[in-house]
Amino acid sequence: MSETLKISVIGTGYLGATHAACMSKLGYTVVGIDSDSAKISALQKGQLPFYEPGLAELLVEQLATGRLTFTTSFDMAKDADIHFLCVGTPQKAGSNAADLTYVNGAFDQLLPHLKVGSLVAGKSTVPVGTADLLAAKLDAQAPHSDLAWNPEFLREGFAIEDTLEPNRLVVGVRKPESEKLLAELYAPLITAGVPWISSDLSTAELVKVAANSFLATKISFINAMAEICEAAGGDVTVLAKAIGYDPRIGSRFLQAGIGFGGGCLPKDIRAFMARAEEIGANQAVEFLREIDAINLRARTRMVDVVSSELSQGLKGARIAVLGAAFKPDSDDVRDSPALDIAASLLAKGASVVVHDPKAIDNARLRFPNLEFATDIKSALTEADITLHLTEWKVYRELDPVEIKKWVKSAKIIDGRNALDSDKYLLAGWRFRALGRNL
Ligand code: UGA
Repeated sequence: MSETLKISVIGTGYLGATHAACMSKLGYTVVGIDSDSAKISALQKGQLPFYEPGLAELLVEQLATGRLTFTTSFDMAKDADIHFLCVGTPQKAGSNAADLTYVNGAFDQLLPHLKVGSLVAGKSTVPVGTADLLAAKLDAQAPHSDLAWNPEFLREGFAIEDTLEPNRLVVGVRKPESEKLLAELYAPLITAGVPWISSDLSTAELVKVAANSFLATKISFINAMAEICEAAGGDVTVLAKAIGYDPRIGSRFLQAGIGFGGGCLPKDIRAFMARAEEIGANQAVEFLREIDAINLRARTRMVDVVSSELSQGLKGARIAVLGAAFKPDSDDVRDSPALDIAASLLAKGASVVVHDPKAIDNARLRFPNLEFATDIKSALTEADITLHLTEWKVYRELDPVEIKKWVKSAKIIDGRNALDSDKYLLAGWRFRALGRNL
């Protein structure tokens, strides 16, 4: 009976905390383990250390069942049938490569606690070949266990949905019994029709980086078209809509603007390039260098447009920035295009005030010199120009007639191509957007 399965989740960050709560929701007994005692004591109390729609409520609900617990002790993993490795793989300082310190550290700490017949299932995004190295170590030190790779495709803002109703489940396995165990765990999802793809370890690792590379490529492609539209006098939003009707292209992830950020896409394409070089296949993913460059150029282009809109120049101009998170419905500011642009404008002498519905605390930690406003009106008051940099719903719903009364100069630049330009133009705003000639 699958509900008797016991699970450990190593690393209770974004991925791990979500996975732990969702596995408990499926009826399993779950222990979440993390070396960060502050994070663990918050989770034990039902407090989520980050913002994700619905997750705080799910955490509280699952803690109350008694099935979900959190601890700093690896010893508590000893009864688990499946151990999910969910620790981070950030970009190494001074290099494009992924830093595997946390993966290796967590794995080494877990090894002495593996019971007979248990399975370690990696979820972290790792360079291809990592699972083989871990498997070799496991075979030497804990041959009574096995290792599989089960990459995660969850998006921030949709973490619960993407875990409980993913568009596919991918498992890299070495032994049929390990695939059987994972299929038993995910039985409710498989029954609901989620496609199941099993492969070797390397393919499973690669699926994840290939998917993120493709998504990054789609975004940079449309941002490259935005540059062309600007130069040629076209409109990238119309172009995206038109090409998106072709089902081979698809309309999603063709939102031109200031580009991708966050803790995944930027570092994953860089780590992919670094790993490809190590395995002698660097030419195959050389195009990702251009994808990265187009993405970073979108931020510079935004700064240039702002500068061109201010006849008095950037120095001393009051700039209102709407959005600090790398995307809406998240408080994550890792590699956030919005914050990077705000910081560059500040460095160029502008007076920048940033608003975000959820990410102000994290943004302040990264850029303490920026000014932050907790309400939209204070951010916009006396602004010489307004920048829309993260497409939160609350910004899309602003009334251009009303907010025009707050600003000094009714100029807005939509860095996400998400605002209704007609409404702003009708209300008398000067409206600009990347990739459009308005
Ligand atoms: C991404 C992937 O979408 C997930 O499938 C993956 O599991 C995750 O990384 C991960 O590796 O953990 P996430 O980082 O949450 O998820 O964010 P996305 O929704 O992919 O957005 C990434 C960035 O692209 C954001 O900054 C967003 O604003 C930007 N974006 C997205 C665009 O600029 N244009 C678009 O059309 C779409």
